[in-house]
Amino acid sequence: CGIVGYTGSKPVKDILVGGLSRLEYRGYDSAGVAIEQDGELAVVHRKGKVSSLSHTLEHFDFTGTCGIGHTRWATHGRPSEANAHPHTSCDGRVAVVHNGIIENFAELREELVAEGHAFSSETDTEVVAHLVERALAGGKGLLEAVHEATDYLVGAYALAVVSFDEPGVIVAARKDSPLVVGLAQDGFYVASDIIAMIEATRDVVVLGDGEFARLTPTNVEFFTAAGSFEPTVTRVDWDLDVAEKGGYPDFMLKEIHEQPRVIRDTLAGRLVGGALSIDELDLTVEELNLIDRVYVIACGTSYHAGLIAKNLIEGWARIPCEVEVASEFRYRNPIITPTTLVVAVSQSGETADTLAAIRDARVKGARVFGITNVLGSPVARESDGVIYTKANKEIAVASTKSFLGQVVSLTLLALLLAQVKGKLKTNQVRFLFRELADTAEQVERILSDTSAIKEAARACVDAKSALFVGRGMGSAIACEGALKLKEISYLHAEAYPAGEMKHGPIALIDEGFPVIAVATKSPVYDKVISNLQESRARGATVVAVATEGDEEIRKYADHVIYIPKVRDAFSAITASVPLQLFARAIAVERGCDVDQPRNLAKSVTVE
Ligand code: G6P
Repeated sequence: CGIVGYTGSKPVKDILVGGLSRLEYRGYDSAGVAIEQDGELAVVHRKGKVSSLSHTLEHFDFTGTCGIGHTRWATHGRPSEANAHPHTSCDGRVAVVHNGIIENFAELREELVAEGHAFSSETDTEVVAHLVERALAGGKGLLEAVHEATDYLVGAYALAVVSFDEPGVIVAARKDSPLVVGLAQDGFYVASDIIAMIEATRDVVVLGDGEFARLTPTNVEFFTAAGSFEPTVTRVDWDLDVAEKGGYPDFMLKEIHEQPRVIRDTLAGRLVGGALSIDELDLTVEELNLIDRVYVIACGTSYHAGLIAKNLIEGWARIPCEVEVASEFRYRNPIITPTTLVVAVSQSGETADTLAAIRDARVKGARVFGITNVLGSPVARESDGVIYTKANKEIAVASTKSFLGQVVSLTLLALLLAQVKGKLKTNQVRFLFRELADTAEQVERILSDTSAIKEAARACVDAKSALFVGRGMGSAIACEGALKLKEISYLHAEAYPAGEMKHGPIALIDEGFPVIAVATKSPVYDKVISNLQESRARGATVVAVATEGDEEIRKYADHVIYIPKVRDAFSAITASVPLQLFARAIAVERGCDVDQPRNLAKSVTVE
């Protein structure tokens, strides 16, 4: 979900719509605004995308200069106009937008209903509006009222609240869900993500847990339960063009093309005086040397980056490494000792399950490293050390450049562990690092001619389902390939280790069934070829991602996508790129919205 609010000297309507459009990648099943207009709060909601809200708003002549807005990804209550934020109190005096989840909302709702409050939505958020209303009725000011309301809340929240009792004032509060305040010439902003306000200001204050802000048109003050405090102002150094498509038809394609830059930036400054350096990890060489078990925990695409890392950490550093989805890890009782390293991978740095897993691991005594793309995000703050992926803001919901940034960062971590453990000598690490850096150019070459990828995609566009297969690294790459395809094209796609095909999935294959194989040159290349023959013999249409110069593969595949030769350890960086483009090409052919696929959201801050 996304939040934006503004109070200042400019009309707020267009500011809210602009901010919501930029936040839309975070959720887009309904949207709404509350604007102070002529001494009242005008609230407008629409089901569907922000564009539907913006069309409706064209019919209103709002001139108000204070308001809040929200774009939603449904948790409690289906997507509908009634469940869209902002939510209001019974008397319409208070409007609230919220990200996160109020876990005790059912009890609170019961209590408030018993006191005579009438609810008009099925959401957890609406209780906040009624709690604030109750506190205001008790004589409190808006800041105190929001404070009192949050005392009742169990769960996660980023809140922005307005009331016509205090015109021009927005009160913001956060716990476990991001919220930033923007300081501009013409007024003050609040948003769940800097991108919503980047056009107006680069000076932001990132609110911490338990902190509140009171924004007025000319001033902003920050508070905790203990009183007011002086905040740290951070200057954001991104360019505005992160929020623009820059001539590409969609953000996904733009972000795929940014990947050579991501590789270069993620590696920049890492080789110091010929040795690998990751200072941010905050562990001494002795402490690193003691690590005897690694867990990589993550969700979605980030989990697939973890699958790749396992091969490298075990292969180079010889440390046992398990990869687990965070929502499973957090409810198990994994074996954790003080010499366990947990690596939490999260593009957004705010995924609820990953954060919970970090907290759990730390309580159990593990050291935690975060790998994230977002400066100062909860994952960065709560980890013992952090590696930033330098992907810059990613807008398309399906992750591409962040994934590559994660794979490169995890590769660095694996090299570092191998170096510390004495499994690789400094000169070997240096040699591998240089080869890793060369992948930037190899990805550029893949991007320079995508005709074979498009042709393969055309052959698969009418399929109902597809299998992605590979072995070793290829098996992990296949998982990400299948996820990309299902996320954006709504085709059923499944990844399988190629050697497992004969134990079940091969039954699916009949004439024309697409089998997409990662068949690059590797120690298991011949085995993959045998599996392709088995599929082809049953009528599959085989698409192979193969190494340049491999002519033999043409005998076993209907479509071959050649990529430059790299060592197997780096094959995820190159082989993932054609699979991203393959998924996108199919989604475009099928008329899907590649940047904002149905039912998904960019960051999932609820369990
Ligand atoms: C959502 C996104 C995915 C992402 C996953 C994990 O499902 O749609 O693209 O991989 O969350 O997100 P994270 O920010 O923790 O990497």
